[in-house]
Amino acid sequence: MPTVRACTSSEPREGTKGRWIPLSEPHLAGNEWRYLKECLDSGWISSAGPFVERFEQAFTTYIRDGRPGTPAVGVVNGTAGLHVALRAALVQPDDEVLVPTLTFIAPVNAIRYCQAHPVFIDADPLTWQIDVKQVEAFLERECEVRPDVPGPGVSTKTCWNKRTKRCVRAIIPVHLLGLACDMEPLMALARRYHLRVVEDACEAIGVRYGPFHVGTRGHLGVFSFNGNKTLTCGGGGMVVARKPYADYVRYLTTQARDGSREYYHQEIGYNYRLTNLHAAIGLAQLEQAERLLARKRAIAAAYEQALRDVDGITLMPAPPHTEPGYWLYTILLREGTTVAQRNAVLDRLAAEDIEARPLWQPIHTQPPYQGCQRAGSMTVANDVYERAVSLPSSVGLNMVELERCVEVVRRLLAGA
Ligand SMILES: Cc1ncc(COP(=O)(O)O)c(C=O)c1O
Repeated sequence: MPTVRACTSSEPREGTKGRWIPLSEPHLAGNEWRYLKECLDSGWISSAGPFVERFEQAFTTYIRDGRPGTPAVGVVNGTAGLHVALRAALVQPDDEVLVPTLTFIAPVNAIRYCQAHPVFIDADPLTWQIDVKQVEAFLERECEVRPDVPGPGVSTKTCWNKRTKRCVRAIIPVHLLGLACDMEPLMALARRYHLRVVEDACEAIGVRYGPFHVGTRGHLGVFSFNGNKTLTCGGGGMVVARKPYADYVRYLTTQARDGSREYYHQEIGYNYRLTNLHAAIGLAQLEQAERLLARKRAIAAAYEQALRDVDGITLMPAPPHTEPGYWLYTILLREGTTVAQRNAVLDRLAAEDIEARPLWQPIHTQPPYQGCQRAGSMTVANDVYERAVSLPSSVGLNMVELERCVEVVRRLLAGA
């Protein structure tokens, strides 16, 4: 089977200095063609079909290291997965959900799809992930746990924001860039404050916290197989959860269809199911997961080795107790770098046919979210955003290309 080099944000093309080196393109070198042909030959191209279940089962086995568990639920993309995961976590209109401000915008949008409100948390200066100490400070300072009005045989408690008088229902740790959030203290806080945890593992296939794959510690975990991810099916996602959450997610993603009565719907659901075509590609990719991840880790190690003596830059962290997946290898430029200076570096890389990109502008500064609550100053997130540059990290990046990236980065940062 030939190696297919498909593309995402940039078409592979001949640049003026040689081949354009893309940031992150898919590597489709396994059974993708064969499985897709099976779908086309059989006519199973929609959301019913054997590959959906095969992919779900294989994903559960992969994510739980072969331990049995509830099958994961395939969804059309990670954003839809986050939406239904939050609904399954019983996030209601007017609730509050804690979320990092330094993230791709999808988890925050998903909070708003539930008509709930984000509370932004700053980034940890060492790991760039959600700052657990800031989460704790916010909960201690602003919140209190109160027993709910007891029903027969039921005794539950809810966390309340004392100032806004809203229920703080959940937290979304977003595992950024193929690293892991500090899950152990986060889970302890979630237990103490009765919060549900929806892990956004969309960038974190292959990432472990301690012995566990991320996405499996919280109540629900969500993955993305978007075209630029380590493991892709063009567009798709997976929600992992224990029963009864997983059952509820499956129900919501199929228009909340009542299994016992034809075309009867107790509540509002969604058409969020993964198609057999996408699942076929996803399964073929999953079969190669270890090889794809080994390549990502080798690329990260090569960048680290080649850039570690560059004065003033900060290399990508490897948070303690974790095994990173290094989705995008990212460095911070010198302290005090402005957005304009960082953009100039990106432009000069592009002029050398190297696709690099900034991190996401912190969400508390984005027009739809400027008025939302912030638990702290957000200075770390702003600083990381201003200085971060993600370097080409495609699985198919070869050593010649990597050396060219390193040589250009070193030259630019030396001020040449
Ligand atoms: C952190 C994070 N969350 C959620 C998503 C959304 O996933 P999707 O693009 O599959 O909707 C992405 C990116 O794609 C992401 O990077």
